[in-house]
Amino acid sequence: MTPAPTRVLFVCLGNICRSPTAQGVFEARLHERGLQQNFVVDSAGTGGYHTGESPDKRATAAARKRGYDLSVQRARAVRDSDFVDFDLILAMDKSNLQNLLARAPASTQARIQLFMSILPQGPEEVPDPYFGGADGFEQVLDMLEQAADAWLDQQVQS
Ligand code: 4NP
Repeated sequence: MTPAPTRVLFVCLGNICRSPTAQGVFEARLHERGLQQNFVVDSAGTGGYHTGESPDKRATAAARKRGYDLSVQRARAVRDSDFVDFDLILAMDKSNLQNLLARAPASTQARIQLFMSILPQGPEEVPDPYFGGADGFEQVLDMLEQAADAWLDQQVQS
């Protein structure tokens, strides 16, 4: 029998910069490794201000330069059913993490943790690039690529 896919939700504040980029990078890595069937991925924001919007143009452009397509994604807010529908909920920063932990029902089976926690060294948080310059989006991509590989190395081995 085929094992059930691992369901992963990437979460930031607005769901237009960091978490859609994380989803795009993760999807590309799954494709490269032939693991698409083993995972279901999505992203969401702890805030709903950008619901229905495409990812930020700067995030989309920076991602496209590295071969990641974010164009089909649309922003949505975290919803209560996410705590049932996902096995792993990965927050981009500590504020996102606190928000998720505060609203998670006691019954949730989901593992809720920082995306960067998979790397033993280095920054714990993916910095919010929204109010900064183009460099911020490149830095976010560098971090997300490294952590996505680390998550998949671990999942494949376990
Ligand atoms: P994200 O970035 O959380 O990485 O999507 C942000 C996007 C929008 C806002 C803040 C952060 N905002 O305040 O509208």
